[in-house]
Amino acid sequence: MGFSQRILAVICVVWITAAGVRTEDAYKYFTWTVTYGTIYPMGVPQQGILINGQFPGPQLNVVTNDNVIINVFNYLNEPFLLSWNGIQQRRNSWQDGVLGTSCPIPPRRNFTYKFQAKDQIGTYFYFPSTLLHKAAGGFGGLAIASRSVISIPYPTPAGEYTALIGDWYKTNHAVLRRWLDSGRALGMPNGVHINGRGKGLSTFKVDPGRTYRLRISNVGLSTSLNFRIQGHKMKLVEVEGSHTVQNVYDSLDLHVGQSCSVLITADQAPKDYYIVASTRFTNPVLYGVALLRYSNSRQPASGPLPPGPTTQIDWSLSQARSIRWNLTANAARPNPQGSYHYGLIKPARTITLANSAPIINGKQRYAVNGVSFMPPDTPLKLADYFKIQGVFNLGTISDYPRGGGGYLQTAVMSGQFRSFIEIVFQNDENTIQSWHIDGYSFFVAGMDGGQWSPASRKGYNLFDAVSRSTTQVYPNSWTAVLLMLDNAGMWNVRSEIWARQYLGQQFYMKVAGFAGQDEYIVPRNALMCGRARGRHTRP
Ligand SMILES: *[C@@H]1O[C@H](CO)[C@@H](O)[C@H](O)[C@H]1NC(C)=O
Ligand SMILES: *[C@@H]1O[C@H](CO)[C@@H](O)[C@H](O)[C@H]1NC(C)=O
Repeated sequence: MGFSQRILAVICVVWITAAGVRTEDAYKYFTWTVTYGTIYPMGVPQQGILINGQFPGPQLNVVTNDNVIINVFNYLNEPFLLSWNGIQQRRNSWQDGVLGTSCPIPPRRNFTYKFQAKDQIGTYFYFPSTLLHKAAGGFGGLAIASRSVISIPYPTPAGEYTALIGDWYKTNHAVLRRWLDSGRALGMPNGVHINGRGKGLSTFKVDPGRTYRLRISNVGLSTSLNFRIQGHKMKLVEVEGSHTVQNVYDSLDLHVGQSCSVLITADQAPKDYYIVASTRFTNPVLYGVALLRYSNSRQPASGPLPPGPTTQIDWSLSQARSIRWNLTANAARPNPQGSYHYGLIKPARTITLANSAPIINGKQRYAVNGVSFMPPDTPLKLADYFKIQGVFNLGTISDYPRGGGGYLQTAVMSGQFRSFIEIVFQNDENTIQSWHIDGYSFFVAGMDGGQWSPASRKGYNLFDAVSRSTTQVYPNSWTAVLLMLDNAGMWNVRSEIWARQYLGQQFYMKVAGFAGQDEYIVPRNALMCGRARGRHTRP
């Protein structure tokens, strides 16, 4: 047995032992109450959505394979639904918390989410998925730590912080929703917040000389943000569940819905420093400011805010290409990430998804391949389960862009279980896009300007592209991703630009598993609504 084989054998033994110990994965219970309350993200009072009285909502910290049980009580006067951005919900799209999978929780009712953080690590967030509730809060950080038996590819940080950053509108979410319903655009946001505060009120405390992990998520509605810390560099270590090559950056672009982790070392003079999140590709540029405070600080933050990148798309594109998979680091399992050679698998199908902004029935809508999504009155999962006809049909969105205008449809594509596919996001509009796929993470094989063509494959990174669940598509550009459809379920493919998602730039992909690998059966406590009202999950 050669040296590398022996290493492999050792790894296998460790794995089996680890698997043996984890027969009893931990259970973590949470009770969350959702209420309206007054919040001040822009310094003026406005109605916000609180979870357990907090805005942003409580940080959800779990460990790989934990069983997470969250009983959510809705005390709003509207139906409410939470989703988990980037949590794969393996064989369990029932818990995904989007209108295609779940009934919203009616006012004064509750629903208990039960899911396992199966084989995942990393940085994510939860958010309200219906109406325009995301514009009022209701979001929070979600971190999955590695199990203690799994090493992480850097020294254990002295502490960990979460920075939820996002653009913000002072206008009430219900008014914003009426604007969209009537065909009016949201326009420029009013500002940017960091953990729910706009101007220097969120403080991150650090001890001199120590290194911290900062988890950052763009939880905003519309705008790409650049994140940076005065006088400090950031070492990127993780992106949406992948350990990355540990490049050092002065600033990082995070597009809507994206998450990452950086390490920061408190190696500067003991004072306070500005932390900035500023809008990208907008005029004017809006700023959110927080503080990094050394525990022995004797001076307030001073000097100009650290400047962001001055060049626009090219800078952002080349930074995106620099974010790569660390092939030797492991993620949720002991085997290195790079032992999965995605670049050697030939995709069985290419799906090209083109976004557009058609006017339908006199109103602004957004579409994918000409189809503007209409949410069903009955979750697609329940329609499937109870065989309720007329809610949706498979094949109601094509694999390629269609010419002509757009039309409304409850669009559902079918995906073949365990097939490896290529998805090309083609953006012929002059605004940046951000796409997310529930249930999976995908390899971001390539992105570039212009029209994608088969020749574009020559430029793909088939070696160490990062695997994540949300990718940007630059204006008049394409992004190509590769993924294995190994998770049975009904999965939402959506724009993370929230007005676009709300007005139709989304659809579902149904991946039916094989016997024994298929989805779990309907949860006993599933709420019923629409044409499933009055049905029972058990005889
Ligand atoms: C609502 O909460 C109660 C406990 O207070 C729980 O027994 C019940 O299962 C919850 N309902 C749903 C639909 O999860
Ligand atoms: C990749 O991960 C390994 C741990 O397996 C770590 O030692 C190494 O520094 C990382 N490499 C880079 C380039 O970040």
